Amino acid sequence: MAKPFFVTTPIYYVTDAPHIGHAYTTVAADVLARWRRLHGDDVKFLTGTDEHGLKIQRAAEQHGVTPNEWADTTSQRYRDTWALLGISYDDFIRTTEPRHRIAVQEFLQRIYNAGDIELGTYEGEYCVPCEAYYNADELEAGNCPIHLRAVDHVVEENYFFRLSRYQQRLLDYYAAHPHAIEPESKRNEVLGFIRGGLRDFSMSRTSITWGVPLPWDEGHVTYVWFDALINYCTAAGLGADDESFARFWPADVQLIGKDILRFHAVFWPAMLMAAGLELPRKIFAHGWLLVGGEKMSKTSLNQIAPEALVEEFGVDGFRYHFMADQRFGPDGDFSYESMVTRYNSDLANNFGNLANRVLNMATNYCDALVPLGRANGPLVAASEAAVRNANSCMESLDFSGALSATWDLMSATNAYVEASEPWKLHKRSETEACAAVLGDCLETLRIATLLAQAVIPDATSELWRRLGFGDHISAQRFPDALVWGQLPAGNVLTKGDPLFPRKDVVA
Ligand code: ME8
Ligand code: MG
Repeated sequence: MAKPFFVTTPIYYVTDAPHIGHAYTTVAADVLARWRRLHGDDVKFLTGTDEHGLKIQRAAEQHGVTPNEWADTTSQRYRDTWALLGISYDDFIRTTEPRHRIAVQEFLQRIYNAGDIELGTYEGEYCVPCEAYYNADELEAGNCPIHLRAVDHVVEENYFFRLSRYQQRLLDYYAAHPHAIEPESKRNEVLGFIRGGLRDFSMSRTSITWGVPLPWDEGHVTYVWFDALINYCTAAGLGADDESFARFWPADVQLIGKDILRFHAVFWPAMLMAAGLELPRKIFAHGWLLVGGEKMSKTSLNQIAPEALVEEFGVDGFRYHFMADQRFGPDGDFSYESMVTRYNSDLANNFGNLANRVLNMATNYCDALVPLGRANGPLVAASEAAVRNANSCMESLDFSGALSATWDLMSATNAYVEASEPWKLHKRSETEACAAVLGDCLETLRIATLLAQAVIPDATSELWRRLGFGDHISAQRFPDALVWGQLPAGNVLTKGDPLFPRKDVVA
């Protein structure tokens, strides 16, 4: 039976439409999901929307609708954008769904029964855009350190989760699981925070009603982060489908942005420990996508809608750019100019041109059929290296590294064409030698297409068709399909329009 692989994105707040920052995490998760499916894994890829809490309640008020109406509309905008970007999620969770209320209540009751929740009074500062509590010493000039806006002073009777009990257990766990938080800089940040001491934190509110009521005290609703984190267990089947839960929990990879690292690497594992559940195998926190050096925000109006870029660069152009342009981990600045440059150099020239050139020559010199003979020249080793490197990069979620390994193979193929000059071989009627060279090039095109499939699914399935395959490229299975020499002789080749038409560079 296929190996289960459970990958998640954060669930996004339904305050407003998604921007390229949300798309960034979601495309990365999609690439990983598609890559694992090519390996034959039984993938469960989860995304969704975070719909409770004060922030959403206020957004609804501002728009003059009920929180439910606002959540319905905005959650749909996320699904529309993910459909546009070819996001192949298996499940889309909304925290307002009945299945989630059931799972949250089940989860909370377990922690309550374990004695890890107690009543107390909270007095302190709260940032609504973050939906987070801050200590006075964490504020910057009295403002939220992330939004640089005034915080609310709150005094409330709340239930507290006894996080302080978990300090040592978390440290022990992370010592025993050195890859549970990546990259390493983020792991160190988390360890430093835990060593600094953990305080119990408020996990319920009485001042709002937009949330999941506590099972033992219906006058309180669950603090939105406590509710939100549990979504990962809900979707795996907690409280509803034991077989599915046993199969998919714990998650294999949870992708998040660095803004929500503490919630995922400190609070979440402690909550799971308290509930007697296993911890995710890996939390990977990537950096921010910046625009003009700043994080995108509503206040600075620098949010870019994915739709605008897709219109210009296509779905594959969008996905490729964000996976190739910045390393998955550090921050990176988005620039339109570099998107045009990268599109032209990698997609239009390198990949697109190579495909066209090789298919054209094979059409003219080999009667549009994959030839029988192969030169088995330098591209054999180049292919093997590309497969090896791309695989090991993907194992460590280094998407840009995997792409550059794949694009190296395309460059090597272009160089091989230049060096072996098949047009001269053809002219001299060295038919077999010419066919053997083109046979190698077609073979590397096949392999590069497979390696790029998870990132640029549309162009690769089209190229797969042009290489004469009748089945869909996603039906291929790694690692067998990546072995050299499997392009069937006699496959009928098709020429076509450029896969990635060149963009004019606007000055
Ligand atoms: O925090 N660069 O939701 P959210 C890179 N509901 N990634 C970015 C980004 C940027 N500029 N902006 C957003 C929440 N992201 C909670 C999560 S999970 C149980 C609850 C991505 O709508 C990144 O993944 O504010 C970040 O962590 C997430 O969107 C935050 O989305
Ligand atoms: Mg946010």
